[in-house]
Amino acid sequence: MKFVIEQHRSRPSDDPIFALNAEARARKAEGAPVINATVGALLNDDGSLAVLPSVSEALRSVPPATAAAYAPIAGAPDFLRAVSNDVLGPHAESGACAATPGGSGALHLAISNFVEPGQTVLTSSFYWGPYKTLCDETDRQLTTFRMFNEARQFDVQSLAESLDRVLDSQGRALVILNSPCHNPTGYSLDASEWDRVANVVADCSKKGPITVLVDGAYALYGARELSHDRERILKMSAFAFVAFAWSASKSFTQYGSRVGAIVAFCPDETDRKRVSAAFSYSCRGTWSTCNTAGQTAITRALVEPDLKARVDSERAHLKELLDRRVAVWNEHASAAKLVYPRYDGGFFTTVLCDRAFDVAAALKQDHVFVVPQAGALRVALCSVAERDVPRLVAAIEKHLSRQ
Ligand SMILES: Cc1ncc(COP(=O)(O)O)c(C=O)c1O
Repeated sequence: MKFVIEQHRSRPSDDPIFALNAEARARKAEGAPVINATVGALLNDDGSLAVLPSVSEALRSVPPATAAAYAPIAGAPDFLRAVSNDVLGPHAESGACAATPGGSGALHLAISNFVEPGQTVLTSSFYWGPYKTLCDETDRQLTTFRMFNEARQFDVQSLAESLDRVLDSQGRALVILNSPCHNPTGYSLDASEWDRVANVVADCSKKGPITVLVDGAYALYGARELSHDRERILKMSAFAFVAFAWSASKSFTQYGSRVGAIVAFCPDETDRKRVSAAFSYSCRGTWSTCNTAGQTAITRALVEPDLKARVDSERAHLKELLDRRVAVWNEHASAAKLVYPRYDGGFFTTVLCDRAFDVAAALKQDHVFVVPQAGALRVALCSVAERDVPRLVAAIEKHLSRQ
């Protein structure tokens, strides 16, 4: 097909996770007792999508003429204020922000504004696959540091070495860290790990400008919310540029509304204007503007006290649902001696193993679907009913022991 440029001709059309999910659903439709641990969305125990009713109501109540109108390119000012406040709390005035289509859009803005074309973005060795896609699409590369050391703790030493290397070779760096509830491992950095990351960033910053992008897609599902570590994370701004990818997809169960934002901590007004302008220009040149109805409804959910209280309480129930699955997983998986990193909340966990693709293929014989990647199986507990978790663990244990 000579019309498609050569580099794009053999691109896979479908995300592999979506393809696995489709296979699991087709099998289920035939009546098989499927456990589908591939879906990256929180499902109720009956398999339906968990939705916060108060957010749906807020969306329905957006006046048609408001919903139909274009939002400003960088996002509705009320929305940006509300999100900046949510992310930066008392430092909200220092936010350089733009509305984005989900957290994915925020990642795109970071990649295209904080490293040059052809340069390399740094993230952990386990990472959400679209990081690479986003880099490909913007003509950037992706490289990784080893995420876990032998004790299965966050490998700060490897981060230091890789960051050093990246700075030596290109003079600037963008580091993407996804916490809490890292996808795919479920790992959340604790306070001392954030402090050690900050020390590394301080050391390496002598070599060149570093941007740290905290991907907070699961900010409200961890044992500690991301906001608890805000001051700790912002301490890095003495040496580096700190930005957050914010998303309503999981926090407000609005995956399809495509509401997100990038919030960069930028206390200097001149810098803030420059960064905001760069974001806004990228928005115009990529997706133009974002969903107006989504921004309107999510703004209300963030700032109107009564609505916010309802949203928070409905979300707390969903978190309890997920936390119960996590507890059952930890009980059974540790008894089965599955090897997986610290997991105290969040949509996913990851079983570390050899031959993950073979194990995942074998698990399908027992109607269990998980997502394999090199050295690991991603298990989306967000989409598995609590009652199915023991069978899920037993199947993984059985097939691991056969490999
Ligand atoms: C780690 C991570 N970052 C960002 C996102 C972005 O999601 P969205 O663009 O739907 O907000 C996701 C979604 O699955 C994710 O898992």
